[in-house]
Amino acid sequence: MSTRQAFERFFISILSVSLCVESKPMPIGSRESNGLARTPLMGWNSYNHYSCYPNETIIHSNAQALVNLGLKEKGYEYITVDCGWTLPDRLANGTLTWNPALFPSGYFALGQFIHGLGLKFGVYSDGGIQMCMTGSPAQNGSLFHEDTDAQTFQSWGADLLKYDNCYSDAALGYPDTSYTPTISPKGHYVTMSSAISNLTRPMVIQICDWGVDFPSLWAPALGNSWRIANDIIPYFRTIPRILNQAVPQTSFAGPGQWLDLDMLEVGNNVFTQAEEQTHFSLWAILKSPLVIGGALKDAATSISSSSLAILGNEDVIGYNQDSLGVAASFRRRWTEAGYEVWAGPLSGGRTVVALVNLLDVATTLTVDFPDVGIQKASSVKDVWNGVAVQNVLTSYSASVAAHGTILLELGGTTAAGIYAASDATVSSSTTTFSKVYAKTTSTNYISIVNFTTSVASSTTVTIGSKTYQLPANSKSLAVPLFLAAGNNNTITIKSSLPLSTLAITNPPSTFYPSTNFTISGTATRTTCSTNLCLPVGSKIGYLTPTRLSPSHHPGTLFFHFRLQIHQHLFLQQRHSDLHKLGIRHQYQEHDLVWEVAFAINNIAYYLEDDAHQSASKGNWDYNCQEGPPVLNSPITVRNIKSRLVLLMILFAISVIAVASC
Ligand SMILES: *[C@@H]1O[C@H](CO)[C@@H](O)[C@H](O)[C@H]1NC(C)=O
Ligand SMILES: *[C@@H]1O[C@H](CO)[C@@H](O)[C@H](O)[C@H]1NC(C)=O
Ligand SMILES: *[C@@H]1O[C@H](CO)[C@@H](O)[C@H](O)[C@H]1NC(C)=O
Ligand SMILES: *[C@@H]1O[C@H](CO)[C@@H](O)[C@H](O)[C@H]1NC(C)=O
Ligand SMILES: *[C@@H]1O[C@H](CO)[C@@H](O)[C@H](O)[C@H]1NC(C)=O
Ligand SMILES: *[C@@H]1O[C@H](CO)[C@@H](O)[C@H](O)[C@H]1NC(C)=O
Ligand SMILES: *[C@@H]1O[C@H](CO)[C@@H](O)[C@H](O)[C@H]1NC(C)=O
Repeated sequence: MSTRQAFERFFISILSVSLCVESKPMPIGSRESNGLARTPLMGWNSYNHYSCYPNETIIHSNAQALVNLGLKEKGYEYITVDCGWTLPDRLANGTLTWNPALFPSGYFALGQFIHGLGLKFGVYSDGGIQMCMTGSPAQNGSLFHEDTDAQTFQSWGADLLKYDNCYSDAALGYPDTSYTPTISPKGHYVTMSSAISNLTRPMVIQICDWGVDFPSLWAPALGNSWRIANDIIPYFRTIPRILNQAVPQTSFAGPGQWLDLDMLEVGNNVFTQAEEQTHFSLWAILKSPLVIGGALKDAATSISSSSLAILGNEDVIGYNQDSLGVAASFRRRWTEAGYEVWAGPLSGGRTVVALVNLLDVATTLTVDFPDVGIQKASSVKDVWNGVAVQNVLTSYSASVAAHGTILLELGGTTAAGIYAASDATVSSSTTTFSKVYAKTTSTNYISIVNFTTSVASSTTVTIGSKTYQLPANSKSLAVPLFLAAGNNNTITIKSSLPLSTLAITNPPSTFYPSTNFTISGTATRTTCSTNLCLPVGSKIGYLTPTRLSPSHHPGTLFFHFRLQIHQHLFLQQRHSDLHKLGIRHQYQEHDLVWEVAFAINNIAYYLEDDAHQSASKGNWDYNCQEGPPVLNSPITVRNIKSRLVLLMILFAISVIAVASC
């Protein structure tokens, strides 16, 4: 058996074992039962601005402002009173009640007020023995009272329940927060979701367990959205941190089930205008609920017109509420240059693309459309720059402020890699294709030149400086081609026959040993265990995130090389393995994304962060191990697949294997 065969057999056996014996892949059920939130919910919530100190006056004034400022018309609908609303203890008959000092008219009246504005009423509780609370007093949570509380919320006219996760870990004696519980918080959500389903009143359920135990795998059946990460905080570094945590799970979003990136900080005067645009753009296109967390209006505060314009941008809201309901996904990150690209499909054959500037300085950025699967767009709308252009081939450049985002809506697009002769320059027998894109520099591209007609004898065709023979009666010629990385290759083709298209096929993927990568700093090369690092390679440990770019974003990975992420193929295939990895630790601002798959020189790597770490500690390992994830292992980055085609075949085989289990 060759090394390759051994590798394939090993991989297949791993897949079969993990899929057949361990656990059947979990179907990602959608919460069809309540029929709510078919598009991401939009609204306002008290927490980001007022913390756990809401009261009737501020809820009234903000709800009224949502209407008066025109935001209700734009789709913002749910007014949710977050933590701090209740009394320490239940009533003698066991029901929760509001704190009358804060809500003198009571919660039923509050619901009536909100409904009277044509808005919907969101309530808050917690699946632990106490609710989350900043400061005091401690307040009873819903654990063991789910049915009663659901009925109480219904009696008040609630339309939404945000359900938190404080004081919920029985095994540890119910601490305030537990990011590494011994059992999943899922059980508490199963119970409350069941209690809500038993009601006659439809109620949106917002699961808020801060991403503990990878709720993307179980929350879609229990709620309409689920938090994927710890709380947003009022510093820009929170944005790349939460986005990093979204990277491996955007595919779990869909109608009725959305990844919740947390409430918006837009309007809280903590971000620049460009940062607010980045925050709002990415939350919108990832199909997060858009829940305003700023004070719109109270005795002390009025939202700025700049923030209001961002929250009210109809293009961006439209991307969030698009009928297709597909979340944008991470496509590529340039760690050294400090920017990244996200993109996703929209209805009407459109595509939304976000080019995020992570640098602390303004710059000009270029998006190469092939990085998002597109060659040409008949229309490009540059939302924040207010620019619209037609017929853009291969790439688009624009300036962007520090931490800003170029947000593009592309229409009338063609598939990457195919260049029409009608877009080339034709001069007698010479056709010149410009703006030809190559992901990497290689002599191994294949170009396929198609002609509009054929002739009965063979013809000479010159491509660049090389001459080829087009066989008699043929309309298509395939030849190898050198292309330099970038969007500015020019290919000149001389032929007596007119051309129709030039199609470029990427070079086949190649294995490279880890010795191909330069290591520095604390990084070390270490030996792989038996059967790991197949078919080539060794492991590099202790990669310290470096700061090669002039900016510093603890929430962002900084490696010595560029990353291209191909997480989807892998993650969609192996949910059961993902579940085993789970999110075993919750990372705050200084921690990096817990798992990401990416490719370097067409090698895909899987990167796992299985221990608490910080940017200062920086402790990434990566290797090219092939095999199942190992629980409780030190931090490792694994090459889980090298050839995407091979992987797809392997996946097909494993599906057959599962079907035959
Ligand atoms: C309500 O909250 C606002 C803003 O924090 C505060 O100024 C006001 O005093 C509070 N009112 C009551 C009755 O607690
Ligand atoms: C408990 O008492 C409150 C206050 O009297 C009342 O509104 C509520 O309906 C009671 N709950 C039950 C379950 O009887
Ligand atoms: C909550 O309820 C329990 C009884 O279930 C009670 O002992 C406790 O004091 C209550 N209050 C708080 C703040 O936990
Ligand atoms: C919901 O109703 C079902 C069927 O009556 C019952 O078995 C279940 O316990 C109820 N759920 C809750 C949380 O009360
Ligand atoms: C080029 O011609 C080949 C052979 O007819 C065909 O399969 C292919 O789809 C054509 N390519 C394009 C881009 O039209
Ligand atoms: C693109 O290439 C052409 C020549 O092939 C060169 O003149 C031009 O400056 C290049 N443009 C950029 C932006 O590099
Ligand atoms: C990787 O290293 C091998 C030798 O170890 C070398 O032949 C090859 O060209 C290198 N590949 C790249 C892409 O640097």
